[in-house]
Formats: sequence, C-alpha cells, structure tokens
Amino acid sequence: MIEKINDLLRRVEEFKPKAAADIEEFRIKVLGKKGELTALMEEFKAVAPEMKRELGQQLNRLKTRALERVNELKAQAARQPENTGSIGDMTRPGSNDAPGTRHPISLVRNEIVSIFSRLGYTVAEGPEIEDDWHVFSALNFPPEHPARDMQDTFFIEKNPDILLRTHTSSIQVRTMEKQQPPIRVICPGRVFRNEAISARAHCIFHQIEGLYIDEHVSFADLKQSILYFAKECFGENARIRLRPSYFPFTEPSAEVDVSCNLCGGKGCNVCKGTGWLEIMGCGMVDPNVLEASGIDSRKYSGFAFGMGVERIAMLKFGVKDLRLYFENDIRFLQQFESVL
Ligand code: PHE
Repeated sequence: MIEKINDLLRRVEEFKPKAAADIEEFRIKVLGKKGELTALMEEFKAVAPEMKRELGQQLNRLKTRALERVNELKAQAARQPENTGSIGDMTRPGSNDAPGTRHPISLVRNEIVSIFSRLGYTVAEGPEIEDDWHVFSALNFPPEHPARDMQDTFFIEKNPDILLRTHTSSIQVRTMEKQQPPIRVICPGRVFRNEAISARAHCIFHQIEGLYIDEHVSFADLKQSILYFAKECFGENARIRLRPSYFPFTEPSAEVDVSCNLCGGKGCNVCKGTGWLEIMGCGMVDPNVLEASGIDSRKYSGFAFGMGVERIAMLKFGVKDLRLYFENDIRFLQQFESVL
C-alpha cells in the first residue's frame, strides 16, 4: 500500500495540465468520490492495526498535498489564461498604433537646414516678438519704408516699438551683435505679416535666412552657394538665374529663380510658361547693416539670402494651396514623410 501512496504522490507532483479543463478532470480522478484517494481510504480500513499509524499519516499528507496542488494549478491558470497551451486566435485583427509623421513644413525645413549645415552653417534662432530695431532699423529700413506700415506688420497696440517679426533677418542682426566674423548662420523661424489669407499667402509662414560674413566674401560665393543649395534641394539638373532686385539691407540685391522641376524648364502651368520659379531673395549685406551691428565694413563683407519654407515645400511637393499646411487635416499631412 505504501507504494500506491508514493506513486499517487509522485503523479500529483508531476501533473502538468495542457488546458484549464485538465485540472478539474485530474481533481475528480484523484480526489473525487470515486477517485483514487477514496479507493486508498477504503483499502486503509483493512490494514493491520500496527501499520495504521504510519499509513494514516502518509494518506493524510497525500490528501493535503493533492488539494494544495490542484488549487495552485487553478490559480496559475486564472492568472495566465494564454499559458494553457493555446496560442489564441491568430486571425484576430491586430491593434494598429499608427506612427506619427512629421509635418511637411518641418520636413522641408530640416532638409534645407541639413543642406546648409553641410556647407558649415550653424542654426541660430531668435524671438518671434521683436522690436523695431532688430526687424527694421538695424537692417537699413528708412523710417518711411512701406514694410513698416500697419498694412504689413502686426504691431503691439500699446507700444508700436514692439511687433511680430515680419522676417527672420532679425536673427541675423542679433547674431552680428553677439559675434564677430567669421559668421555662417542659418536662421529658421516663423514670421508674421498682415496679409489676407489665400491660396498663395498666409499671415503666418516660415522662413529660412542665411548669413555669411568674413573677409573677401564675394557675389560669386553667394551664387555658388545658392546653386549648390538648388541642386541639393531640387535635383542635380536644377539651374538658377539671378534677377536684379531691391532690399534695404543688401546691395546689390537679387531675386533667385530655379528652373521648373515639373517641366524641366520647357514651360508649364506651375511656372506659368516661363520655365522658372522664384525661390528666394538675396544680396551682399549693405555696409550700413554691418556697421549698425558693430562689424567693420572695410574689413568684412558678406552675403545674405532668405526663402519661404512653404513656397519651397509647394514647389517640391506640387501643392497648390498654401492653406493646406495650416488646416491640420491628417490625410494631407501624412503623405510627405515617405516622399522625401
Ligand atoms: N528678408 C527678406 C524677406 O523677408 C528676404 C531676404 C533675406 C532677402 C536676405 C535678401 C537677403 O523677404
């Protein structure tokens, strides 16, 4: 009889259920009314009296252990229902955590910044709420210049000296005030102009301006840097042309066109049949601007350029309405991360 008790005890310890239902089946088989333990109890009645004490103890131990084990296994199964040997329903749809995508304006800004950082430019930033000095006066805007007019600039009502910057050239002034040449900075940022919102204009947009000041910097350096940028941004076949223009802070000044990347310069409705698209303004920094920020204009010269990020993004992606960039329709915004 002692062998039977030990054998059952061993099977209780070694029992491994494949599914939760196996545990209950095992319990009935061992501890049930017609189970093995009950049969052993029956057998115990006929045991010789001198054996009763020891066998009784063994039987009780077996019973306690069997109950313990069944409860243990049941608790385990309740904690880990997936641990019952089944791998679950493989056809259930997975939960889809859609990864976010970067905003197209951020993508294009990052690309422009990375192109110029390969030319040794570092990023400089400045405040969006500025004063007249950094946005206009230090940049050689005469007091009567129309850009200061209420039509274009958002002034703070209580103090017209404080305004929302209309271009990121203010960061260039702040850089020149802090740092002596050589200076090579790229200034990305949000700018504000009092314009009616349309497909081509918005009262908030993004600019990237660049400033390069050192000894002997020439217009040829400017042209070559912009050609490099155009090829990196629009492809190896991109060509540029410069048209004379005017900005108060540069002399000479130019407007830069890039060959239309949609028609390859043949003329289409995006470039309005001209084969060229305007992408930025640029020029040699006016000596008055250098002097206003404490840089010796006899020793140093430099160039500056500035472009609208929305405009570059529209040309790169073929987006015709600027307002789409601000409406935050996820279906629109999602399309660009994979294009670049
Ligand atoms: N600040 C000019 C603008 O906002 C762009 C520009 C920058 C032009 C630097 C020339 C040089 O339109």
